[in-house]
Amino acid sequence: MKSLTLLSLSIASGLLSSPALLAAEDIDNGYEDYTINRTIADLTAEEKQIANRIIFGCYLGCHRPAKEEVPETLSPKIEGFDPQYFFDQWVDMDNERHSGIASQMKEIVYANSPRDMANTAIVLSTRTMKYNPMDHVLESEAFQRGKEKYDQSCKMCHGDQGASTQAAYPPLKGQMPTYLFEQMNSYRDGKRINRNAPMMVPFAKMYSEDDYKDIIAYVTGQEVKLIERREFITGIGMPAPEGFKLPDTGQIQQFTDIPNEDSDNPQNPLSYTISKSGKVTLDNNTKLMWERDASRIWMTAVEGQQYCDNLELDGYTDWRFPLMKELQSIADMGNFRPAIDMDAFLNMPRQNSGIWTFPVSDHPDHAWHIGFPDAHIMGQHTASTKLVRCVRADNGAAYHNMSYVDNADGTVTEQVTNRMWQQKIDYTRRNWEDSLQYCNNLELAGYDDWRLPNIKEAVSIVNYNKTSPSIDEEFFPDTPVKYFFWTSTSDVAGPTLHVRPLGLRKKDQSPEQLDLRNTTDNEAWAQGYMIGSGLGMQKDTEFYSRCVRTP
Ligand code: HEC
Repeated sequence: MKSLTLLSLSIASGLLSSPALLAAEDIDNGYEDYTINRTIADLTAEEKQIANRIIFGCYLGCHRPAKEEVPETLSPKIEGFDPQYFFDQWVDMDNERHSGIASQMKEIVYANSPRDMANTAIVLSTRTMKYNPMDHVLESEAFQRGKEKYDQSCKMCHGDQGASTQAAYPPLKGQMPTYLFEQMNSYRDGKRINRNAPMMVPFAKMYSEDDYKDIIAYVTGQEVKLIERREFITGIGMPAPEGFKLPDTGQIQQFTDIPNEDSDNPQNPLSYTISKSGKVTLDNNTKLMWERDASRIWMTAVEGQQYCDNLELDGYTDWRFPLMKELQSIADMGNFRPAIDMDAFLNMPRQNSGIWTFPVSDHPDHAWHIGFPDAHIMGQHTASTKLVRCVRADNGAAYHNMSYVDNADGTVTEQVTNRMWQQKIDYTRRNWEDSLQYCNNLELAGYDDWRLPNIKEAVSIVNYNKTSPSIDEEFFPDTPVKYFFWTSTSDVAGPTLHVRPLGLRKKDQSPEQLDLRNTTDNEAWAQGYMIGSGLGMQKDTEFYSRCVRTP
């Protein structure tokens, strides 16, 4: 179907005589009902650029092809799907797909417009899923057994060895083996109930888990590797460090004339003391003690935990994995690549400097990490590898648990960070600048000094021990989880994070260089309360706001 405007445009430009040149148009009835009619040829250069930016974010997060091929990963490869199938699955991640680690995707569904999602799906459909078989699997009996079962029961829909040629049937050839295993289990157990899932249920029920493994060996050329499930630190019950102060984000750049962006509200500047040995960094605000020089080796989360257990520095032996808010508290959002003070913290590779924190609460196979190129918060599979930086505090303290007081006047006071919060939001989504204005104009409980929180404040009220929502509902009831919340902190690096030449450190920048009010390529940090991840997002996106003030 073509829209009228397009048709008349085409008549005007005399193109109607050759229908092939008539641009196809999508039918956009919102996320749940979007029909992709365009192909890659219909995308403008700008649309392709936006799609590539989104795809880059996917690769930066969890999806392959990333640096390491980790067969254990539960995140699928995303290339080679029919665009409509891909789009629909993406939307269904908000609710109907409970398979594997789908909860990681929930916050990412509504972060982009349907049109941008369609563009992304179209661009990804032009790439092929990589098939990297391992010799020993190709020669195995499992591979042979798998071929027999596959040809009998799966080939009719998913094509030869899973190289599907039909839009409705997803490709399986080369997909991540453990992801496929998890999906088969999810169809069988009724956890994946979206769209055409019912079609798969009988085929999943027909076979045992051992059969799944054989079939997966055949279509991926790799082995299913089940994950070692371990107990990690949870932070539950750990008291706040004595004398704790919430550090600033470190952002000193200006991005807007509207008052109360992050850099307008310095309170506790980042401040560190390095121990005599040079090996330990004390954060003077949080009172947490950090390993100054991060592990030089990339480790899985399990290895990382062991590394901290065995660490001895400056006579201390009680080093441990950092919790999420702790690791984020040392981010310096005024710098990027890496977004950290490079004197206080050594050995921070400028590109891929993820550091582990603790596991995602609703999925033991995923741990949080912070990607220190720009300090984004993401979950990743515990079997992939990251750097580790251990932490400790006196008296077994941790920056993790909050202490709220409901003031019974529409506000909540948090006593660890010393902040007062707007208890109920107004459920209106606004762009970034309008969100700053909204809080500036808010009058609540007799106060008029409300402002949009910075990213560290927005993260402080996440409860990382729960999801949907990952916030204490007793104090913040009816917190929506579908969309992010804006923060006052801009994303200094923006979408050009990895392509831009390394910027000057902020301390070397002149006042003119710190004035970014006329730049357009920066984004701002948005924080979610579904699982507690956060992303840099374009400032014209509309998100919620919850205002804060310092009592
Ligand atoms: C009658 C057609 C049909 C047959 C036969 C079939 N499938 Fe499927 N399969 C589908 C459809 C349709 C989907 C997408 C369902 C959805 O929306 O979740 C699917 C999805 C899948 C997925 C999820 C892929 C992804 O990217 O998330 C896996 C894994 C899978 N099938 C494996 C198999 C295996 C193994 C067999 C044989 C034992 C099989 N299928 C037989 C139609 C079929």
